[in-house]
Amino acid sequence: MAIFSSSTRDVPQVAAVPRHVAVIMDGNGRWAKKRFLPRVAGHVKGVELVREMVRSCLERGVQYLTLFAFSSENWRRPQEEVTLLMQLFVKALEQEVEKLDRNGVRLRIIGDLSRFEPRLQALIRKAEERTAGNTRLDLTIAANYGGRWDIMQAVNRMTEAMPEKAGQWEEADMEPHLSMHFAPEPDLFIRTGGEERISNFLLWQLAYTEFFFTPTLWPDFDAAEFDKAILSYQQRERRFGRTSEQLTGKADA
Ligand code: IPE
Ligand code: IPE
Ligand code: MG
Repeated sequence: MAIFSSSTRDVPQVAAVPRHVAVIMDGNGRWAKKRFLPRVAGHVKGVELVREMVRSCLERGVQYLTLFAFSSENWRRPQEEVTLLMQLFVKALEQEVEKLDRNGVRLRIIGDLSRFEPRLQALIRKAEERTAGNTRLDLTIAANYGGRWDIMQAVNRMTEAMPEKAGQWEEADMEPHLSMHFAPEPDLFIRTGGEERISNFLLWQLAYTEFFFTPTLWPDFDAAEFDKAILSYQQRERRFGRTSEQLTGKADA
């Protein structure tokens, strides 16, 4: 399995289409409230937009799509909403995996899955196994995920694996233990819903990612909105600490 080294060290090739897109899908509740609907109606619509996003990524040649579906902090929501979100998750796994598989999508779920019901855990394992051979798009759903949790579990596994290196561990020792070890770091991070924060998403991996914030609520984030984010990304110059001249070769580096 390929383990990607940090893009903060090696400048990745500038590509017209971001290779890895990570998204905080926010604004479902407000979308529903605007329509005098219960919050769950926003989440149901949100699942539809996930489908559309996957289609867009397949069409545009994005290789990795990582979606924040449920944070480790979202357990703090009213019990009723948490239960409904879990039911939606189960339903989506039951109904969507076959189509994902047919379309060459490999599905992974990252996060602390131990807190989920056994039935949900089994569905996750089955979906991951079923799609493990697919290579067209890597779709990762972060569920009960927290960036700090991810770093801590990686530290724990690293220190267990090489206790003799205490005091001399390096970034490269920890990276293979992070949940997203199989993917290059995100090129483009999108957060819908108007909030401009990371909310404990991929803390380690977003070190040099390009950020795109939009007030558009997730259930309204269609392919045209996604193209706006890609266009914005294409206008950035990614320097990774270097000077602009070094990258364009216009002056002595
Ligand atoms: C994001 O939408 C979905 C989840 C966190 C599960 P929200 O439910 O946070 O929607 P708002 O922010 O209340 O509008
Ligand atoms: C972040 O959304 C997590 C997901 C989209 C799953 P929230 O809406 O829960 O984020 P905060 O707590 O308002 O920052
Ligand atoms: Mg929110």
